[in-house]
Amino acid sequence: MSSIYLDHAATTPMVDAATVAMLQHMGELGNPSSLHSHGRATRKALEDAREILAQEVGCLASEIIFTASGTEANNIALKGFYWAGRAQGKNVVVVSAIEHHAILDPAHWLHAHESAEVIELPVTIDGVIDLDFLKDLVSTRGSEIAVISVMHSNNETGVIQPIAEVVAVAGQIPVHTDAVQSFKKTPLSFSALGVTAMSLSAHKIGGPLGIGALILRRTVEIPSLVHGGGQEREIRSGTLNAPSIIAFAAAAQSSHYQAEEITQLRDHFIDGVLSAIPDAVVNGLHAKRLPGIVNITFPRTQSDTLLLLMDSAGVSCSTGSACSAGVHEASHVLLAMGHTEITAQSSLRFSFGATSTHKECDFVLSVLPDVIARGRAANSV
Ligand SMILES: Cc1ncc(COP(=O)(O)O)c(C=O)c1O
Repeated sequence: MSSIYLDHAATTPMVDAATVAMLQHMGELGNPSSLHSHGRATRKALEDAREILAQEVGCLASEIIFTASGTEANNIALKGFYWAGRAQGKNVVVVSAIEHHAILDPAHWLHAHESAEVIELPVTIDGVIDLDFLKDLVSTRGSEIAVISVMHSNNETGVIQPIAEVVAVAGQIPVHTDAVQSFKKTPLSFSALGVTAMSLSAHKIGGPLGIGALILRRTVEIPSLVHGGGQEREIRSGTLNAPSIIAFAAAAQSSHYQAEEITQLRDHFIDGVLSAIPDAVVNGLHAKRLPGIVNITFPRTQSDTLLLLMDSAGVSCSTGSACSAGVHEASHVLLAMGHTEITAQSSLRFSFGATSTHKECDFVLSVLPDVIARGRAANSV
């Protein structure tokens, strides 16, 4: 068996419904902002897609702001809320220590260039944010906080965060959640959660790359990052990418993600790993997690080496963390959960999706002992 894809948290294969919808609309002519019949036809298809997505997300259609990625949605939210808050004398940005770089980096940018004070929420050993820390922070410095941003679930460990509790603690402070990994994988409703804003990305749910959305409460206004034609409530100018938006909605509507089956597959995988490699550690094992993501530390190995050995065995997985100039950095998520630099750099992320099978899972389990043995041998020289 070759070419097993266990990196669905990085990106997912496009579902047929999305590919068909996208190809069909790529052949249609018309700028959705044009008033003639071509433009109106594109606008109609686009607004229908917005309605479908709104139903899937549990928000109003008018609350969806389309963007080019989850990264862009996060940037618009964090910077926009900060600037809106700063105009009222609030300069504190609160983010969890385990956010994706698409939140952490704009937060650090706001600190370096816009005088923001950034406070990172610590997490427990299982990777769940420390709510008591947040409660203390809000009770002592709440009037200074412009925005609180906590991801709905973590992309490296799959650990689901207590967002409803964050909203309750935050009171009047705007709460943004990066739900890029959660959408269509675990129950998610914008209105039920009560957050002020939420980020999504199409390519994590079987939609195309390069399209995302910021869901922003109708009554909330934030300054824009991208100025121009005034599309999307003047928050995100730019001609709307109609084919991708239509495909995004088609993917959301036709999602075949079977949470129970994927959870079983994941648990079968974890059992297999722990019986073959008894000193392996599953990160976030005791927390509530997404069905499809498993992050495992294999002591006395180097993630880079394991990744290459897995790849040559025909398995695509991930270290879960960023590479900088070809060098794999220790994961900030695992470090925040109490790992050392060494153990954080001995970890792999396997992420299952709608196309994953038991046969694939068993194949990976069959090659794993040899990969780990070779990884350990390489690490000891
Ligand atoms: C939690 C999380 N947020 C944001 C992003 C960025 O999304 P995009 O690839 O659409 O920019 C990712 C992608 O891996 C992610 O996992």
